[in-house]
Amino acid sequence: MEKITIKINGKDIEAVKDQSVLEVARENGIAIPALCAHPEIETRAGSCRVCLVEVSQNGRTRLVTSCNYPVRGGLEVRTDTDLVRRIRKGVVELLLSRTPDSPVIQKLARENGIEESRFFVDEGEHYRNRCIACSLCTQVCEEVVGVSAISMLDRGRDKAPGTPYLKPSQACIGCGACAYACPTEAIPMIDEGETRKIWGKEFKMVTCSVCGKPYIPEAQVDWIVKTTGKDRAFFDKCPDHR
Ligand code: SF4
Ligand code: FES
Repeated sequence: MEKITIKINGKDIEAVKDQSVLEVARENGIAIPALCAHPEIETRAGSCRVCLVEVSQNGRTRLVTSCNYPVRGGLEVRTDTDLVRRIRKGVVELLLSRTPDSPVIQKLARENGIEESRFFVDEGEHYRNRCIACSLCTQVCEEVVGVSAISMLDRGRDKAPGTPYLKPSQACIGCGACAYACPTEAIPMIDEGETRKIWGKEFKMVTCSVCGKPYIPEAQVDWIVKTTGKDRAFFDKCPDHR
C-alpha cells in the first residue's frame, strides 16, 4: 500500500495509491453524490455519472467519475466548482426524465436545485419509474452472490434488468442482494409471512428456531451450503440469536 498525498478542494489529504477519488473523499468526510458505486464491486461501470468531479494533474484538467478514478500523487480534485455543479445538474435532470417517480432521484434533484426536468419524460417499459439502468443489480448478482440470475435486457430507454425471457429464473435463490443494492429501490421484493416474492418467483423462508422470524430463503441456504460447505445447522438461528 503506497501512501500518497492529493488535494481535495485545496486541502492536503493522505490516501492510498489507486483508491478511488470517491473513497478518499468519503473517508475524509467530503460529500460527493453517488448512486451506482458499491463497496463490493471493484469493476465500477460509472454509469450514473452523478459522482462527477474536476481533476487536475500534469497541467491537464478534466471531468471524471470519482467512483472509478484512481488517485495518484499530486492529483488535485475539486468537487464543487461551477462546471461540476452545472454538468451534475444536467445528469440529474436526465435521470429524473427517466425515473420521474423515484423518491431517490426526486430527492437528488431537489438537492441540486431542480424542480422539474427540462428533458423528455421517458416512456420505457421496465421499472421506468425507478430504474436508472446502472447495472449494479446484475453485477452484484454475478460478482458478489455468484448466481447470474438476472441480466440487463433491451437497449436505450427500455434497458433494465430482468430474468431470461422474463420468466421465473431457475438460477435465482431469492437472496434479494439485487434489491438491497439497487440505489433507487427499483426492484420489488415482498416478504410476507414465510414467503418472499422477487422476480416473479416465490421462495419459502427459513424461520429462526429462537424467535420464529422468517429470515433467509431456503434456496439461499441450499446455495451457501453447496458453495461453501457450511453446516446447514448454522442457519437454524437468525443472526440476532446465534
Ligand atoms: S434495478 Fe436498480 S440496480 Fe438494477 S439497473 Fe435498475 S437502478 Fe440499477
Ligand atoms: S457513482 Fe460514480 S458513476 Fe455512479
